[in-house]
Amino acid sequence: MLKLGILMTAQERMARPLSESDPEIYEAVQNEIERQHSQLELIASENFTSEAVLEAAATVFTNKYAEGYPGKRYYGGCEFTDVVENLARERAKRIFGAEHANVQPHSGSQANQAAYAAVCSPGDTIMGLNLAHGGHLTHGHPLNFSGKTYHVVAYNVRREDERVDYDELERLAHEHKPKLIIAGGSAYPRIWDFPRFRAIADAVGAIFLVDMAHFSGLVAAGLHPNPCEWADVVTSTTHKTLRGPRSGLILSKQQYAAAIDKTLFPGVQGGPLVHIIAAKAVCFKEAMAPEFVTYQKQVLANARTLADTLAATGFRIVSGGTDNHLMLVDVFSRGVRGKEAEQALDRAGITVNKNAIPFDVNPPLNPSGIRLGSPAVTTRGFAEPEMREVGEWIAEVLSHVSDEGVIAAVRAKVRALTAHFPLYGWKVDQVRA
Ligand SMILES: Cc1ncc(COP(=O)(O)O)c(C=O)c1O
Repeated sequence: MLKLGILMTAQERMARPLSESDPEIYEAVQNEIERQHSQLELIASENFTSEAVLEAAATVFTNKYAEGYPGKRYYGGCEFTDVVENLARERAKRIFGAEHANVQPHSGSQANQAAYAAVCSPGDTIMGLNLAHGGHLTHGHPLNFSGKTYHVVAYNVRREDERVDYDELERLAHEHKPKLIIAGGSAYPRIWDFPRFRAIADAVGAIFLVDMAHFSGLVAAGLHPNPCEWADVVTSTTHKTLRGPRSGLILSKQQYAAAIDKTLFPGVQGGPLVHIIAAKAVCFKEAMAPEFVTYQKQVLANARTLADTLAATGFRIVSGGTDNHLMLVDVFSRGVRGKEAEQALDRAGITVNKNAIPFDVNPPLNPSGIRLGSPAVTTRGFAEPEMREVGEWIAEVLSHVSDEGVIAAVRAKVRALTAHFPLYGWKVDQVRA
């Protein structure tokens, strides 16, 4: 029986399920479960965490203030928080072979903000890959803290093969003598040449930082060169290929440990999100299991299959293919713009994002490309046969972006396929037909 709030005991009020206490939010959650279940998630930066990660993220650690670091907190009652943070730190160091780990960044952006500030002063020169060529906002975009705080010199990819132009990078580094050189990006489908970056950084006395946000899961599985072997500082998100909660991570050589810790807290953040650190620790444990290697091998195979299928249907793949989990498809090569491609695919139940391609002749809000990634559908259990089907459906939709009949037919096929690969079994019963 429903009781008026005023008549409830504190325990009764605390125990009310979300469906009763906040039906509007409950409804949105249910709709999101249904959306995630019934669509093909091809956004390269997204993934589906395990139920164990979700469970850890929803624990009572959300109630805890824990400013400081294990053993040195500004609040009492941190004994179990310390257990969690120490486990997360040790696991992160072990996975990546790092000398130091800070697991407190709330996000990838805050990891970068603290990492740069630990080794640079405002006004110093930093170098990162041009956003329009696959870099990230935090690598020097004028509207981002990075572009506002530092003097940014961007490097580019080569026009002929759309891979990082290391000769230009070297020339620019000698000319501008940056304090920091950043490798990594959001839409770069190729392996980074870490030894070359290291040599260039050493030649000009720069600190070398790798932002492995996109490919850290591949590194954890030993399927991608490990930046911790080459870089002074390595930052990451934990929610992309690494398949953890939405959050960040900083790894470094011991030499930078104290500066990074002090810059993140109290420099950039206040209290850590202990529930999310717990979820990160769970994700790190999962990343050490043999199944994680099997998963990441399939991520790579699935990305290659999708790129090959799209290329076979006549779409140009930027740089000719992919070495990792993502690819950029030049849809303008077939007369379609990124925005209409994203929208038509969305109507077909295929979620992607429009993306600039290097040397784009179209503006960023309606660029020439879309970015696709395999991590999320691989978590669902997709392998090469499903990826070939998905590639053919994408080509079909993009060849008929205004034909709602074709789009509806693909939507029906997407629904049928996703029904065979359920997500979060404990909730699928609640998914409305
Ligand atoms: C390379 C790279 N670095 C940093 C970030 C920022 O991560 P967050 O969105 O958690 O701030 C992203 C996110 O897309 C990214 O791709």
